[in-house]
Amino acid sequence: MNDKNRTGAGDPGRRKKMAIRNIREYGDEVLSKKCKEVSEMTPRTRELIEDMLETMYEANGVGLAAPQVGILKRVVVIDVTGEDPYIMINPRIVESSGEQTGPEGCLSLPGKSGVVTRPNYVKAVALDVNMKPYEVEGTELLARAICHELDHLDGHMYVEKVEGELQDVTAEDMED
Ligand code: NI
Repeated sequence: MNDKNRTGAGDPGRRKKMAIRNIREYGDEVLSKKCKEVSEMTPRTRELIEDMLETMYEANGVGLAAPQVGILKRVVVIDVTGEDPYIMINPRIVESSGEQTGPEGCLSLPGKSGVVTRPNYVKAVALDVNMKPYEVEGTELLARAICHELDHLDGHMYVEKVEGELQDVTAEDMED
C-alpha cells in the first residue's frame, strides 16, 4: 500500500546490504496467484525480507507483499509510521471489527487510488523474522494496511473492492 504523506525512512545502518527489487505491476500474473507458507527461515528468505523493506521505503510505501516483488511466499512488510516495521510471515487475521471507508493505493498500481471499505480494527497473528509467533493489533491505517497486504498473499488487489471508479493521483495530490 502507499501513503502520499510518506517521505521515506528506515534505519540507514541496516540498509547497506539490501537491494531494491523491481515492483510488479497490476496485470502481472504473479499478482493473482496464491502464495505458499514459509516453513523455515533461510538466508534467501531473510534477504527477501531485507530487500522488501528497502523496496518499500524507497517507494514511500506503507506496506509490501512478497508477490509484489515476484516471490510467491506468505511474507509482508508493513510500516505505517516510517520507523516501526512489522515483518509478518504466514500472517492471518484472527479478529476484526468496525468499518472505515477511504482512499487506498498500491505500489503495484502507481498513480491510482480508489475508495475501499475495510475493518477499522484488526488483530493478526504472524511469525517474526525468527519464526516466533506474535500478534499485531491495528486500527485505521495499520488495520487497512494489514488487510490490503494480506489480500496480496491470496492473489487479490484492492481494485477488486473499489467503490466507484479508480482515481488518478496527480503529482499535486502527492504534495498535500
Ligand atoms: Ni498493494
